[in-house]
Amino acid sequence: MIIANHKMNLELDDIKKLITAIKKASFKPIICPTAIYASYFVEAGIKTGLQNIYLENSGPYTGEISPSQAKSMGIEYVMIGHSERRRIFEEEDKDVNLKIKKALENNLKVILCVGENIGEDYKEVLKRQITLGLEGVEKEVIISYEPVYAIGSNIIPSREELMETIHYIKKLVNYDVKVLYGGSVNLETAEELKDIPELSGYLIGSAGLDIEKFIEIGEVLS
Ligand code: PGA
Repeated sequence: MIIANHKMNLELDDIKKLITAIKKASFKPIICPTAIYASYFVEAGIKTGLQNIYLENSGPYTGEISPSQAKSMGIEYVMIGHSERRRIFEEEDKDVNLKIKKALENNLKVILCVGENIGEDYKEVLKRQITLGLEGVEKEVIISYEPVYAIGSNIIPSREELMETIHYIKKLVNYDVKVLYGGSVNLETAEELKDIPELSGYLIGSAGLDIEKFIEIGEVLS
């Protein structure tokens, strides 16, 4: 799985060019654009996800997007618990948990984002984020491991560290969970990050904003 998280970037012209490029590419990415562009990707037949979702299906929640609305638009995936949501928008594990449940109820595929910051004990953080995030959750979710220090920094964990962490994540979950890696996945790091056993894919942030680079990275990693 090659997933692009556009965050709050790109404008309509860029989106149109990206769609043309993706249609010609040799791999099939999942794009999580800024929500207002989602329908362009859906209509082009490209797998689409949202970067966040609300925890109710409807109601007086100005500015929010609901899981049932997303589903009705043909959106297939939703990222929940990205570190920027946790840090900037003060989302806690209990919010993440409610969002996951509502998204799954609406048959969206959930990508739960987890990861420790520098100086934190990765086992402690991952155990908390995964057990609280998945409390009472009965369907399977995808987990994206994104160490906070690796996001936008060009610093990535070593292959050994990554394999150890993936192994730890898999032990915390009682099914054969798909684990992705995110954080400074780019052309320079792709060689080191590719072909890691047990890794099911990659979540690409800033490097996914440059169309040519994104296609090149996707080709290396897929
Ligand atoms: P990055 O972001 O690729 O720019 O490090 C990844 C992410 O935040 O999902």
